[in-house]
Amino acid sequence: MSGETEHSIEARIADADEFEPPASFVEQANVTDPEIYDDFESEWPECWEQAADLLDWDTEYDTVLDDSNPPFFEWFTGGELNASYNALDRHLDERGDEAAIEWIGEPTDEANRTYTYRELHREVNEFAAALRDLGVGEDDVVTMYMPMVPELPVAMLACARIGAPHSVVFAGFSADALATRMNSADSEYLVTCDGYYRRGDALEHKAKADDGLGGVDHDVTGVVVDRLGDAYDHPMRDGGNGGATGSDHDYDALVDDHAGAEVDPVSRDAEDMLFLMYTSGTTGQPKGVKHTTGGYLSWVTWTSQAVLDVKPEDTYWCSADIGWITGHSYIVYGPLSLGTTTVMYEGTPDYPEKDRMWDIVEEYETTQLYTAPTAIRAFMKWGERYPAEHDLSSLRLLGTVGEPINPRAWKWYYEHVGDESCPVVDTWWQTETGGMMITTLPGVKNMKPGAAGPPLPGMDVNVVDAVGDEVDAGEAGYLTVDKPWPGMLRTLYQNDERYVQEYWAEYSDTDSDDPDDWTYFPEDGAKIDDDGYITVLGRVDDVINVSGHRLGTMEIESAIVGVEGVAEAAVVGGNHPVKGEAVHAYVITEDDAEGGSELRGKIIEGVEDAIGPIARPESVVFTPELPKTRSGKIMRRLLEDIANGDDLGNTSTLRNPGIVEDIQAAVDAGG
Ligand code: WTA
Repeated sequence: MSGETEHSIEARIADADEFEPPASFVEQANVTDPEIYDDFESEWPECWEQAADLLDWDTEYDTVLDDSNPPFFEWFTGGELNASYNALDRHLDERGDEAAIEWIGEPTDEANRTYTYRELHREVNEFAAALRDLGVGEDDVVTMYMPMVPELPVAMLACARIGAPHSVVFAGFSADALATRMNSADSEYLVTCDGYYRRGDALEHKAKADDGLGGVDHDVTGVVVDRLGDAYDHPMRDGGNGGATGSDHDYDALVDDHAGAEVDPVSRDAEDMLFLMYTSGTTGQPKGVKHTTGGYLSWVTWTSQAVLDVKPEDTYWCSADIGWITGHSYIVYGPLSLGTTTVMYEGTPDYPEKDRMWDIVEEYETTQLYTAPTAIRAFMKWGERYPAEHDLSSLRLLGTVGEPINPRAWKWYYEHVGDESCPVVDTWWQTETGGMMITTLPGVKNMKPGAAGPPLPGMDVNVVDAVGDEVDAGEAGYLTVDKPWPGMLRTLYQNDERYVQEYWAEYSDTDSDDPDDWTYFPEDGAKIDDDGYITVLGRVDDVINVSGHRLGTMEIESAIVGVEGVAEAAVVGGNHPVKGEAVHAYVITEDDAEGGSELRGKIIEGVEDAIGPIARPESVVFTPELPKTRSGKIMRRLLEDIANGDDLGNTSTLRNPGIVEDIQAAVDAGG
């Protein structure tokens, strides 16, 4: 650090609102030509052939975009390919002995596991053969309820190989959440795991899975990965289990029985479903987002290359959980399609110490780190000495995803993790978009902390007002996407109508056959600056973003109302210094029930049972009424203000203005 004191570096970075891409990065970046923006615009939609060309196709597509039936857009039609072939087989000649997955368990006294491409290919083939023997056919949905074990990507790729869509349910979700998703998808197969390690404890997951199966309305064949060994003598179903009858099979035994098996990758139509992913929306029912083989795989492969700058020789690390879309796109499909080494870590960043992440970066010499703002805010709170104790010089690029990142956290990441020599890509996207949509191309564009960036080349993203007119720079509006893109969801599983309603109805002429009359609405607020950089302000629907995890307020409310003694509930998101947002519940009790610590405990338990610990309310406030408008709608905005300790402003439009003071008093008194 030539002459500059640490204090002056801090000050310089704190003052700057724009950063150029580091020269050392630009020199070697995958994308460096600024013309790409104009080229993609003038060649749209053919520009997306560049993405499709990153893949190996069994049959060439004949049409890039079929927009004859909006909003049911189709990409690369006529083409056929297999995702597992693209992620594995095609790398064997050149990279067969290189690591595909570096898996790191949470306990530090346990050996980590490296899967070379050849080993991963072998196990995927063996498990694909086993799944077929269990009866899994093309288009059968296989559910996975698994933590971060390597058998999860193996199972996903095995499904892809035989053309069976997977539906991965985050292991932190509850038994009920598993049952809802399996019923919705009519999924007759479940791959799960006995348990996993979390902050040093062995968590028993299989009992929870069995509990979930009790709520499934059809038979289910199970496969169980033994992660914990002697630490947990897990139950295996043999015939009955309440709702879902069926038997469990041991994963290792199945793979052993199919040792050496080879399964030809099934040629899938570009538009065939690769997977389903359930996500939260406005109503209580989670939405089954459908992604396809050709468009999705092209999109995540292209964005991994262009934005994350992934190269085959990298050791790339995305610290998300594969149970969420980020893990699907940027731990499994994108990186493996590019033939790189992808890191998977089972545990938490603070076990055994708060430097575990940096320990991993140093040991594996990881070249990229893609994580969430929540994690960065936690690292900040723990202090810069943790990253400073490690050699992080292998890092070349940093990324964030999942929620808005505040400039202070962005700068901390840039300085204390990236040593000012790594670009930071703040990537905006959604489960529904399949992959990144708004972010800087790191070798081309300057970065502005707090703004995700301009839309990626080829994307037509705007910030508009309530009637769809573009707002002026600096003004808050709504994000819209005016042109389709290959990675987009195709529909909500078996619910085309809800697909149109949820994502298109707001800003489209839904009677029109003209694709130009259709606009996708992501339900995020945003503003745009004079350079076209977009700052995403957060959800404008009833979705709360806790630590980058999407939770529906309605889902939480219905869980609370399901608790005995509760008459009505309203849930809102309040600001939280680390998690971004936290869940706050306002609850009316039934006449004869008392709102006290016992009921509060039951409410928290009810939410954890229905959804999972991530949805646990930060506060539960008992109130005799909820603030309602004259037309009877709950004024959530006011409850948010109360949760945030903000000024309440005008409450005169309420039917019951006095209630606000009562709620405030209850909050002040500690609920
Ligand atoms: C939010 C996660 C600001 C946004 C990939 C979006 C973000 C929702 C960003 C999708 C970002 C995601 N800046 N907000 N860089 N990335 N979001 O489906 O509200 O779990 O609609 O997908 O997260 O969450 P999902």
